[in-house]
Amino acid sequence: MVMTSNELMPRSSIQFVKYMGSKTKILPFVIKGIEEVYNGGILCDLFAGSGTLAGALGRQVPMISNDIQFYSATLGKAYLTDYDDGTVSAEIILDRANKYFKKHYALLIEDYKYPEKLTLSAFNKIEKHNRQLVSHGFSNKWHLFTKYYSGTWWSAEQCAWIDSIRKAIEDFRTSASYNTLLCSLMYAMAYNSQGTGHYAQYRDAKTNSSMNDILIYRRKSITEYFERKVRTALSDLPKIPTFLPHKVVSLDYLECLKDLKDATVYADPPYCFVHYSRFYHALETIVLYDYPSIQTKNGKFVKGRYREERHQSPFSIRTQVKKAFIAMFELIAANNCSLVLSYSDTGMISMEELLECAREMFRNHEVTIRTLNHLHMTMGRQQDRNRDVKELLILVKPK
Ligand SMILES: C[S@@+](CC[C@H](N)C(=O)[O-])C[C@H]1O[C@@H](n2cnc3c(N)ncnc32)[C@H](O)[C@@H]1O
Repeated sequence: MVMTSNELMPRSSIQFVKYMGSKTKILPFVIKGIEEVYNGGILCDLFAGSGTLAGALGRQVPMISNDIQFYSATLGKAYLTDYDDGTVSAEIILDRANKYFKKHYALLIEDYKYPEKLTLSAFNKIEKHNRQLVSHGFSNKWHLFTKYYSGTWWSAEQCAWIDSIRKAIEDFRTSASYNTLLCSLMYAMAYNSQGTGHYAQYRDAKTNSSMNDILIYRRKSITEYFERKVRTALSDLPKIPTFLPHKVVSLDYLECLKDLKDATVYADPPYCFVHYSRFYHALETIVLYDYPSIQTKNGKFVKGRYREERHQSPFSIRTQVKKAFIAMFELIAANNCSLVLSYSDTGMISMEELLECAREMFRNHEVTIRTLNHLHMTMGRQQDRNRDVKELLILVKPK
């Protein structure tokens, strides 16, 4: 097959996290849009999130992967710059984690386990007891999750494993597959969590049926999920470093655009009022492992135990969203870049207004649109689990 310079050939990559607004499901539509404006140079994923684009195109084109959240950089590096030099494996990490767990947690968590048969009130008592670990004095260094999150999205035992594995991964900080290991832990966290895939709120057991559902997750094994993911993820990595000049950064979108000349920008900003920093604070914390100050209300930790310092995106604030787009368009126009902008008809600004604004700002560019009707997953457990939305791509190319 003869390849034209703009032809993009996405690969199906490993998924590590369940991510709100991920473009995995509509990737062919997005890639087709990018192909229409791509000039063969740098492709910048300005709001990279879970790294869908890096996973799909990172082996083919030079990319800049940017997002304000640090966990996104970990995902971006796993897709763009990690490789498997054969020095780390699931066994090596789990062997170290096991030793750490045995030494620091095996005894402690005996007191926080869930017996086979449980009444609702006994279950809730154990949950509360787990959560009280937040006041426990730990003498070992790696106890962030056990202290902060026991009895929330995970049990104390699962948190102790998260901490033990996190410690073992850190022993391999300079490894060529360090980010892939961290992403595999993010995966195990997501699939063992009793929530719906994000960390905005965990569920309370109000009935036997919700208790039984939560128990399914409480009994899952972090180590099994981690081990499986590391195996598949390492085998999917290249064996040598990439020859492409990728860059992975954690900047505000305007900072990232400032010095970007003649590139193709894919912009997929938030389009609803919820902030990613609240939904995915646990991912930020597992990556930074910085014992953050936790938000309080009336002198108590808030239920979700969010990080106090959290980014508030202008794209999620109705009074700021238009200005945020104008600032983006200005820099892209001034720097002679092409743009593919993803948005939806359920966004914070109407498609008509956004398009009008783009046409006004890009007078020396060609502006066209593509739309797609799409059944969108809301990531909630309510009736509207799926919602019909219209996905929009605004394509902008220098004339
Ligand atoms: C719709 S999601 C992107 C999803 C991504 N395309 C994917 O497939 O996973 C929007 C992203 O914008 C990021 N974000 C929000 N405000 C930002 C800002 N001011 N600068 C950079 N990134 C920002 C959020 O952290 C979030 O990951």
